[in-house]
Amino acid sequence: MKFRTRAIHVGNERDPQTGAVVPPIHVASTYVQPGAGTWGKFDYSRSGNPTRDSLQRTLASLESGCGALCFSSGMAATHCAAMLLRPGDHVLAGTDIYGGTYRLLFQVLRPAGIEVSLVDTTDLDAVQAAFTPRTRMLWIETPGNPLLSITDIAACAELARKHGALLAVDNTFATPALTRPLELGADIVMHSATKYLGGHSDVLGGALVVADQSLLERLYFLQNATGAVLGPFDSFLVSRGLKTLELRMQEHCQSAMSLAQWLAVDDRVTRVLYPGLESHGGHELAARQMNGRFGAMMSVEVDGDLEKARRVAQSTRLFQLAVSLGAAESLIEQPATMSHASYDAADRAAHGITDGLIRLSVGLEDCDDLREDLDRALSA
Ligand SMILES: Cc1ncc(COP(=O)(O)O)c(C=O)c1O
Repeated sequence: MKFRTRAIHVGNERDPQTGAVVPPIHVASTYVQPGAGTWGKFDYSRSGNPTRDSLQRTLASLESGCGALCFSSGMAATHCAAMLLRPGDHVLAGTDIYGGTYRLLFQVLRPAGIEVSLVDTTDLDAVQAAFTPRTRMLWIETPGNPLLSITDIAACAELARKHGALLAVDNTFATPALTRPLELGADIVMHSATKYLGGHSDVLGGALVVADQSLLERLYFLQNATGAVLGPFDSFLVSRGLKTLELRMQEHCQSAMSLAQWLAVDDRVTRVLYPGLESHGGHELAARQMNGRFGAMMSVEVDGDLEKARRVAQSTRLFQLAVSLGAAESLIEQPATMSHASYDAADRAAHGITDGLIRLSVGLEDCDDLREDLDRALSA
């Protein structure tokens, strides 16, 4: 079955008891067992829940994995992957990553004895040079956040394998509709399901998807032992969102491309970061790696000025001033004061996350209305 068909049918098998085309939401926290010490398929909802299980089967199918695990948030998923590391291990991460991931790396993992360093993952020589004998994980985000840098997943997978490290890819921006990192050799795919997978700004969730059964079992152990699972109602919302993922992404990408092309020739904007533009350094790689589409996230720079960027971000009406992304509603935010405020200011400056940067999540409104909204805000 093709992607869109699997998004609707895998994991969503009709209920055999009632014939309901949408499986019921299983709310029970515990399950009666056949005998003491004899376990049925489900025993306790932290360890397994039929609604979460349905969603996990859909996601595993869409990401070409052997299995998936769903978490209470994207950060819980990232943390679970990080629990594979031991004190003394080294994790290498991209410079263009979500602010919360940066915070987890430097303020949670580092104090726990895990060595952390950042590298520009668009520069494969630099990545190669940054591995140490203790590197156990390479963590990348592509397109990157907030600079929309494009990292070569297949090349990073090869480098990671050569150094005996796992490659983990935060696939939140691209989604499996555009990029399937496991098919390119990655070991772990991570999602903030809060974003495009859910797609409607009404659920918080996360996921890990892997292609290797023993890795799935290790991660399952860690998830069950620590407990940050996705609840059944939230699992249902993400399952429902996935059914329209491919359709939504088509429309998101089309509008984003149209807005990026318009902004690229607008004098009020000094820089447009969108991989769909030929001027973007990662354009060709993105065209190959993202299935000919380029996502719906972009960043623009009005100039180097924090206040001017703030004014623009506060002046839109349809683009709502909020962190997060990937939903029907278009959102606008200023990375320096919002999504990436937890970055060390010196690191922000060193990595090009300037004060004048504004990040847009292009939603599903009519594109003409969105263009008008930005036009008005840029003139404000
Ligand atoms: C790319 C990316 N990864 C991870 C996360 C964390 O996900 P959550 O907010 O669901 O914990 C976010 C949240 O904004 C994100 O944008």
